[in-house]
Amino acid sequence: MAKQKTIFVCSNCGAQSPKWGGRCVQCGLWGTMEEEILSPASDSPAHATLAVSPPVSLPDIPEHNLERTPAGIGELDRVLGGGIVAGMAVLLGGEPGIGKSTLMLQTAQRVASAGRRVLYVTGEESLGQTRMRGRRLGADSAEIYVAAENSLENITGYIEEFSPDLVVVDTIQMIHRRDIPSAPGTVAQVRQCAVELVCLVKRRGCGLFLVGHITKEGSIAGPKVLEHLVDCVLYFEGDRFHSYRILRTIKNRYGSTNEIGVFEMTGSGLKDVLNPSVIFLAERDASQPGSAIAATVEGSRPLLVEVQALASRSAFSAPTRRAGGVDLNRLAMVLAILERHTPLCPSANDIFVSAVGGMQIAEPAADLSVAVAIASSIAQKPAPADCVFAAEIGLGGELRGATMAGMRLKEAEKLGFKQIVLAPSNAEALSGRSAIKVRSFRTIAEVLNEYC
Ligand SMILES: Nc1ncnc2c1ncn2[C@@H]1O[C@H](COP(=O)(O)OP(=O)(O)O)[C@@H](O)[C@H]1O
Ligand SMILES: [Mg+2]
Repeated sequence: MAKQKTIFVCSNCGAQSPKWGGRCVQCGLWGTMEEEILSPASDSPAHATLAVSPPVSLPDIPEHNLERTPAGIGELDRVLGGGIVAGMAVLLGGEPGIGKSTLMLQTAQRVASAGRRVLYVTGEESLGQTRMRGRRLGADSAEIYVAAENSLENITGYIEEFSPDLVVVDTIQMIHRRDIPSAPGTVAQVRQCAVELVCLVKRRGCGLFLVGHITKEGSIAGPKVLEHLVDCVLYFEGDRFHSYRILRTIKNRYGSTNEIGVFEMTGSGLKDVLNPSVIFLAERDASQPGSAIAATVEGSRPLLVEVQALASRSAFSAPTRRAGGVDLNRLAMVLAILERHTPLCPSANDIFVSAVGGMQIAEPAADLSVAVAIASSIAQKPAPADCVFAAEIGLGGELRGATMAGMRLKEAEKLGFKQIVLAPSNAEALSGRSAIKVRSFRTIAEVLNEYC
């Protein structure tokens, strides 16, 4: 009998190596290399093919029918780009307990109540648990067929038998193929099962949601190695201790990326939040030092978020820096700029910065609000209550323009703010076009001189 060949695959990024190592040479994470036995079936991971056809001249290809079936949940439709396209495969990732199964069952109910058939495969929970959750969420449509199933062969059989319009697999890490020797949840299983499901739904023209768990480090096998196989990748952000959840598009072949949907988790399921700026500002106490409002844009949506900072004199030579919802590297850069280009001395302080409400701010245009919040806390002087900030700070301390400044300004105006601070390039373009005061400064030192 031929000797079984083994390779080692990184469960985070999918890098392969003939030898085991404690650390993946590609992504640098420790303890992620897993042994995978190459059976003849899994030797070529993509042996499930989309279709067999000879090459066709481009203009002769019939145009793809982009008719969308609404998922029926406004914020989910927004991140999908308007609804589910026939044959679309979506990966929904997030930490355990964040609300993936909740969102999927609510979606199943909406799609089914529009007269379409849904196959809901639950690999983690029993039929009874799904029924109980359904009762709590108001999901009771007869067109939702639930299967508590882990075997890929059975699931593909059900898809052929029931001809659903939408398939939900919750979670892909629990599904396995009998002839692959690795355990469920390993890269070999997850990748092969996903490839086959994606190819099957593309052939049949139904929608597919693959649910996958990830941890904060993103290191559990699965979602990361699946991103290139699917059409759309959505990740749930936020934490279980806040009631607000953010659904972010990482990739979308049928819509724009970086779009976000905002939900509130309630006893009866996830509810759309139509005006998220209001909730991110709800508990603000503008009379306290250390608070500034960032006018951010996520995808096509403006969002005002409160950034809070606390500076307290450090007892140690290496002061503490902590950030929640703000990138730690970006914070380090803002602190270095404040140290070098302003009279403030953040190096003598422990600094804590947080974006309120569980929001993650990734864009550089939030730099100015972070700097103002820190300066306000060090100086113990509140920033003006009626002002929002939107500018990137360059390494020379200069303010740089933000994209879509007009949209940020409109959102600030809508929520009753009276001033917006922008970089000169943005302010010029917007001067005289708004009811609120547009102020611009050349450098961060000038801003702090005025406000802190
Ligand atoms: N009876 C309940 N009442 C209110 N909220 C609940 C209830 N049960 C669960 N939840 C909420 O649902 C969340 C679990 O959602 P779930 O969809 O199972 O997460 P996931 O599938 O991502 O692991 C919990 O964190 C909690 O916030
Ligand atoms: Mg779940």
